[in-house]
Amino acid sequence: MGVVVASAPAKVILFGEHFVVYGEPAIVLAIDKRAYAKVEIRQDKRLFIHSQNLGVSAFFEDDDIKVEKGDLKEAKIKLEPIKCAVEKVLKKAGEKVGLNVEVHSTVPVAAGLGSSAAVASAVAAAVGAALNVEMSKEDVFRIAFEAEKIMHGTPSGVDPAISTFGGTMLFQLDTGFKPLEVKADIPLVIGNTGVERSTRVQVAKVRELRDKYPQIIEPMMRTAREIVLQAVEALRKGDLQTLGELMNINHALLYGLGVSDESLEWLINAARRAGALGAKLTGAGGGGCMIALASMERLEKVLEAVQRAGASAFIARKTDEGVKIESS
Ligand code: PMV
Repeated sequence: MGVVVASAPAKVILFGEHFVVYGEPAIVLAIDKRAYAKVEIRQDKRLFIHSQNLGVSAFFEDDDIKVEKGDLKEAKIKLEPIKCAVEKVLKKAGEKVGLNVEVHSTVPVAAGLGSSAAVASAVAAAVGAALNVEMSKEDVFRIAFEAEKIMHGTPSGVDPAISTFGGTMLFQLDTGFKPLEVKADIPLVIGNTGVERSTRVQVAKVRELRDKYPQIIEPMMRTAREIVLQAVEALRKGDLQTLGELMNINHALLYGLGVSDESLEWLINAARRAGALGAKLTGAGGGGCMIALASMERLEKVLEAVQRAGASAFIARKTDEGVKIESS
């Protein structure tokens, strides 16, 4: 087997972030921006990993690491999830071969777009194909989830699920994932504030507020649930107008929780002024990315407005295509 390339999609949380931590439902969408993993078998037993976006590369052999690019600590931490995904597939194959693994993502990393999970899914699939191991999507998901745990401690599993299976999903802690039927194309503008944020810090902030004002936050939780339920219906019908309005209401709740910031508000207002049907922060907030929904006619205008407001922004659409082998 020569060179194998696999890819997997990034994601946005359309509705329900933060509230999902307390058991409410959330809607997650795979977008047509992907991460790629290129894998080939080496003649020796070493594992070489290169991440274009993270700017690190290293050789691994047993417990040894030899850094090619970046510093040792950085390479160890940042490449560990990829190494974990590779090793899980090698274990499944019952083989010990050397591999070259190169990854790159077409979405910004650490911005709440699920880039690390998409990389892990693509790596698992590509290594599986290179070694000729039968890998179901379930297998890829499980391996990407293990890799994600190294990155994020106790993630919900939403990111590896959506990047493996693609499409649109309803997620709830107690019931897990459910694919959603979506009639329309969902044309989104994604704007990156470039402000670094920590999911952990934002989640802790919300927890504090909830502990302090339970009677106030509880009804907000119920409102968030109702937004998601109505959004499921709007997605089913392809009703973009309603989806936009629900995004605005959802954002108001997130603002109330204190997880928006100036950089997000700036971009969200720019998108709305340019005629977006709705706009909100996506993911943890406190920086990171916002999303705006727009009609086809307005999409370019909204993109330009968000870019003019200072963001690096791009257009994304939903994709049903989960992890896949691009070439082998
Ligand atoms: O920004 P992200 O992709 O890390 O999303 C965080 C989503 C939260 O609901 C805020 C946290 C969580 O674990 O669900």
